[in-house]
Amino acid sequence: MAAARLATRQSGLLRGALTLRHSGVTAVSRPMSTAPSPKTLPSFSMQGKVCMVTGAARGLGYEFCRAFVSSGCTSLAVVDLKDEEAKSAAAELKTFAQATNSDAADAINIIGIECDVSSEHAVQKAYAEIMDTFGRIDSVVASAGIVENYSAFDYPFDRIKKLYDINVHGAFFTAREAARNMIPQGGGSIVLVASMSANIVNIPQPQTPYNASKAAVKHMASSLAVEWAKKGVRVNVLSPGYMLTKLTRTILAHDTELKKTWESLTPMGKMGEPEDLAGAIVFLSSDASSFMTGSEIRVDGGYCVI
Ligand SMILES: NC(=O)c1ccc[n+]([C@@H]2O[C@H](COP(=O)([O-])OP(=O)(O)OC[C@H]3O[C@@H](n4cnc5c(N)ncnc54)[C@H](O)[C@@H]3O)[C@@H](O)[C@H]2O)c1
Repeated sequence: MAAARLATRQSGLLRGALTLRHSGVTAVSRPMSTAPSPKTLPSFSMQGKVCMVTGAARGLGYEFCRAFVSSGCTSLAVVDLKDEEAKSAAAELKTFAQATNSDAADAINIIGIECDVSSEHAVQKAYAEIMDTFGRIDSVVASAGIVENYSAFDYPFDRIKKLYDINVHGAFFTAREAARNMIPQGGGSIVLVASMSANIVNIPQPQTPYNASKAAVKHMASSLAVEWAKKGVRVNVLSPGYMLTKLTRTILAHDTELKKTWESLTPMGKMGEPEDLAGAIVFLSSDASSFMTGSEIRVDGGYCVI
């Protein structure tokens, strides 16, 4: 009992430290719980599932990895653009997993993989490494994505193309290679990270190609969901509102008033923390959502309903 409490406490302390390291936040955002874990529905467990997250070295992708590990996942591929960053995040997640899943310490295998998702060949190589290492793939999250703010007249075409290559084609390659590997094994879950921008037009910052790219991702998920529905592969979308990550901090660094504007446009009056998405990503990726495909979950503090 005391050992279990210690493990929970260690994982709580670690959670605070890792939130700090990867979100760039200067203070721990939530009080850390030292209470033993309450019981939850078994179908939410990620135990025994092999997971892969793109854009996982930081931001939301990193948070998705932590949510999987906290839900029992011990086999995880952390995919990102730079090898060093992917491997460093994987090493940190392994430490977190050892504290969180101390009863399954021998099973923990978390690997970092370098991959530019805009390259089909690189994505295929990443899946080859995952299949070599784990022999299967159960849950994939396509979180790699970029945003830029240019007015339509000023947006250089090469940058628009790069954005679509990552946000749209990257999500497609990630989903297609996931399904290629999942179908022979009987199925799996794919989550494409879109955005509330798939549904609304953000103001005041101009970002037409980004908004269009996220609308494309949302409809891509519906379309792939129908193609693969009878093959056991589910495809759903998670659409966050304004969350505090490096992506948004870069925009806010140029405009200190903007955060107040975003918050005033959000019914809940604040930006979300990455961990606010933990429940939704585990729900979509686990057996808890087994009759759900082609759906979108918006986690946006109410932004889209006004
Ligand atoms: N932060 C928000 O407010 C917010 C809101 C809605 C949607 N989103 C979406 O969530 C996803 C994650 O955003 P974030 O806030 O964590 O961003 P982030 O910039 O903090 O992290 C993105 C990660 O993706 C990686 N990446 C970028 N290009 C890549 C490529 N070509 N191949 C592989 N990895 C690549 C980066 O290295 C980084 O680790 C994006 O798709 C974004 O559009 C974010």
